[in-house]
Amino acid sequence: MSEMKPTPKSTILVTGGAGYIGSHAVLALQDAGYDVLVLDNLVYGHRELIEQTLQVQLIVGDMGDRALLDQLFARYKPAAVMHFAAYAYVGESVTNPAKYYRNNLVNTLTLLEAMVAANINKLVFSSTCATYGIPKTIPLPEDHPQNPINPYGATKLMVERLLADFDTAYGLKSVCFRYFNAAGADPLGRLGEDHNPETHLIPLVLQTALGKRDAISVFGTDYPTPDGTCIRDYIHVADLAVAHVLGLDYLLNGGDSTAFNLGNGNGFSVKQVIEAARHITGQPISVIECERRPGDPPALVGSSERARTVLGWQPQYDDLHTIIRHAWSWHQQRHGSTQGNIVRG
Ligand SMILES: NC(=O)c1ccc[n+]([C@@H]2O[C@H](COP(=O)([O-])OP(=O)(O)OC[C@H]3O[C@@H](n4cnc5c(N)ncnc54)[C@H](O)[C@@H]3O)[C@@H](O)[C@H]2O)c1
Repeated sequence: MSEMKPTPKSTILVTGGAGYIGSHAVLALQDAGYDVLVLDNLVYGHRELIEQTLQVQLIVGDMGDRALLDQLFARYKPAAVMHFAAYAYVGESVTNPAKYYRNNLVNTLTLLEAMVAANINKLVFSSTCATYGIPKTIPLPEDHPQNPINPYGATKLMVERLLADFDTAYGLKSVCFRYFNAAGADPLGRLGEDHNPETHLIPLVLQTALGKRDAISVFGTDYPTPDGTCIRDYIHVADLAVAHVLGLDYLLNGGDSTAFNLGNGNGFSVKQVIEAARHITGQPISVIECERRPGDPPALVGSSERARTVLGWQPQYDDLHTIIRHAWSWHQQRHGSTQGNIVRG
């Protein structure tokens, strides 16, 4: 009997692959047998996670550098691009919108133009639930109106629009994934969340448990929700990563441009997150109750039925305790010293 030869898989360029979600996607791509090349300017990314932990080639450079992109595309001939590179601080996007339009929109336009010039016509894009704005229905379906209420969400919606126009004009096919709140860490502890500054609830709560913060601020305790705090949809980063590989396979198999929500479908309140973290870490975790923040809807939960039916996506880690347990293992290992570094807030 003749031996079956493994099919060589294509090379995928991952922009922003040294960041939180991108690095988990790199791992999922490796697991699926793809060759991976990471482009990251390391403004927020972590070199050692790519070069040492994942042992993937890292090109330190900017996705707005057209000459660099032309060289990379000519040399490595990637079959597709996974595009995570962006700035993602909502508050900063309000005070410094130019920074966001330049990086998230203008630099993405440069990337898309370089792709068209190099005849690379498949892209998986990190969009966001922030493109929806204030929800009219819960859970939000993909055809919910998109009316972002901050520049960050607007930049992502504009890229979605660019992608639709690039499909019509140049046949560039894309999958836009609109994530809800990415959370958790690689179940085997190789990767995890390490944003600086950190603004996401679960890592802030865990930093408090580690003694790196005095207390966690809870913004609003009088929302029309069962315990008065905001409800959000937390999606495990490893499940997000697998969805990206499925989205890529969908495009490589000739799928049409489309958008999918990626959420858990179950909302959890801020108080539920803190309670679960107290249970998992065994730490008291002090809370400071603050006024509501403008623009925070009471509940933001997505329907990911489309990703399940069209892509066959099956989230593996959709309960809050597992998400926090994986994040806690990572945080203890990465930031576990109990000395100093007290950050207020
Ligand atoms: N974290 C979330 O919950 C969430 C939710 C919705 C959408 N997203 C989107 O997912 C993507 C990844 O988010 P993340 O949380 O992993 O952020 P991150 O900051 O950890 O990762 C982004 C990476 O992109 C790199 N980068 C930024 N601009 C670049 C440029 N011009 N050239 C090259 N590299 C550049 C950064 O150095 C960083 O490594 C972003 O596009 C974000 O908008 C994230």
